[in-house]
Amino acid sequence: MSIKPKKSKTQNFYDRIAEVHHFALQINGYEKSVAKYLRSLDLQIDSDSVVLDAGSGTGIVSKGFYRAGFKPRKTIALDLSRNSLEVARKQVLKERSDVWDSICHVQGNVLSLPFEDAFFDTVLTCGVLEYIPLDEGLREMARVLKPGSKLVLIPIKPSIVGSVLEFLYKFNAHPIKDVKRVAQKYFNVLGDFRFPITEPISWSKMIFLLEKK
Ligand SMILES: C[S@@+](CC[C@H](N)C(=O)[O-])C[C@H]1O[C@@H](n2cnc3c(N)ncnc32)[C@H](O)[C@@H]1O
Repeated sequence: MSIKPKKSKTQNFYDRIAEVHHFALQINGYEKSVAKYLRSLDLQIDSDSVVLDAGSGTGIVSKGFYRAGFKPRKTIALDLSRNSLEVARKQVLKERSDVWDSICHVQGNVLSLPFEDAFFDTVLTCGVLEYIPLDEGLREMARVLKPGSKLVLIPIKPSIVGSVLEFLYKFNAHPIKDVKRVAQKYFNVLGDFRFPITEPISWSKMIFLLEKK
């Protein structure tokens, strides 16, 4: 008899809301905003690069990354929620572009990534640290990154919209000063970025560009 592993509360939650959540993200232009920011970075991605989207959900950030023009060898989109990964997979199939062939969807936990040390050339992560202990999450992302490689971290910033999302999506936003302090244990902080106020993503999120020490 096989015993199914118990789903966590977060996994259950995102499995239930995957379709609706994806729809909300599509209409508020997150993908375009993320693509515009990523396009401005010199991430030094080439045809050998391997990228991780940690807590990829329905794939908005991975897609933004490709739309920004990056062409890595492979992008691993990893998330706890099987249904969110399924929505992401369907999107990729719907768009029928060869570009998406290099995205591989993997169910897993950001706190115990199934990859060896220094495996990735870049890690992207948006809206995930809020579900996990900050230090453990950042330490694990640092572990799988090559020294000198970048982590693009998109956390929730303190704001009214952020607080509403915190209630609706059942997470605990970390104070931005804590995010920066803990990040400095494992990374050099290259900069932080505020999205333009006209872009809905700016109402709840900001970006840190970090370099693995
Ligand atoms: C707010 S959504 C963000 C999804 C995506 N990054 C985006 O920006 O659209 C948070 C995601 O984190 C995932 N998540 C939460 N805790 C996780 C963990 N420990 N490991 C992997 N994924 C996790 C959830 O399943 C959910 O898909």
